[in-house]
Amino acid sequence: MAPLRSAAASWHSRWCQVLLFGVLALLQGQVLAFAGRSGVLPQAPLAASRSAFLGRFTHQQKWRPPSSSAAAATTCRMITIEQASNDQIEEVASFFVDSFWGAGTLLKEGQRRQLLTEQRRDLRERYGELIVPRKLPSALLVARSAGGDMVGCVGVEVVVCEGERVGVKYKGQGANDPELRPLLSNLAVSPTVRRKGIGQKLVRACEAKVKSWGYAELLLLVNETNSPARRLYSKLGYKDLFTNTSGTTVEVTSFQIRNSPCTTVCMRAGLAPRGLFSFFAR
Ligand SMILES: *[C@@H]1O[C@H](CO)[C@@H](O)[C@H](O)[C@H]1NC(C)=O
Ligand SMILES: *[C@@H]1O[C@H](CO)[C@@H](O)[C@H](O)[C@H]1NC(C)=O
Repeated sequence: MAPLRSAAASWHSRWCQVLLFGVLALLQGQVLAFAGRSGVLPQAPLAASRSAFLGRFTHQQKWRPPSSSAAAATTCRMITIEQASNDQIEEVASFFVDSFWGAGTLLKEGQRRQLLTEQRRDLRERYGELIVPRKLPSALLVARSAGGDMVGCVGVEVVVCEGERVGVKYKGQGANDPELRPLLSNLAVSPTVRRKGIGQKLVRACEAKVKSWGYAELLLLVNETNSPARRLYSKLGYKDLFTNTSGTTVEVTSFQIRNSPCTTVCMRAGLAPRGLFSFFAR
């Protein structure tokens, strides 16, 4: 495992909460090397609880005639989900920023650039292969329309947890009863195709991935005040596990992008084992 720099620890821990859900940068050394090479230098952390994302789906959505459930089903059926390669991280980062924070409507160009820099770095750390493959499994999944357009994305990774601390930077020493658990993060769906089950499909794809890694649960972190997101997750079988009152969230205002404190809820679903009894175990 690469040595971790304590200097980077603070923004990392904020990023945990921040980005949608969660955390961990086992490949810090490689990230810095990569960032240096590409001219993207780690600077002041941009906190972000992307937990908001699902809430924004509802709030920022323009009015459209309600689609019939048949039409919604058709759309979702035609969506394919694939694992993004390292080379596609840039495309996913760009998609995420535009879908999550609004395509140019809310964001000033400078803000978009700042968010993109942070998003790119976060995705590379969590799901990218920089110099060597990650030691713990991770995957970045994208949903594409029949025409090949990206319409959704989500990441899933195995992180180190110590009790209620999800995604701690494990240095091999001083860790208090560490365990490995899978964490879902960075879920976003394009504003044009929301509420058609694509988010659900992405979550289910993460669950399948996690099971293929041999885990029987999936965690995620969500802003406590983001009721639409929490409702969706609870509909999908996720239950509140614990709450962190010292989380942070990224707030984009017309003047700035800033960290704000927020309470984060960790939700968990047990995953049915594959095979004969999976129906009953769910
Ligand atoms: C709560 O969140 C903060 C900010 O990310 C983190 O540093 C801290 O370890 C978390 N605490 C627990 C108990 O999870
Ligand atoms: C997340 O939490 C912060 C602080 O409580 C709040 O201001 C913000 O509106 C929340 N976002 C959503 C979408 O719930």
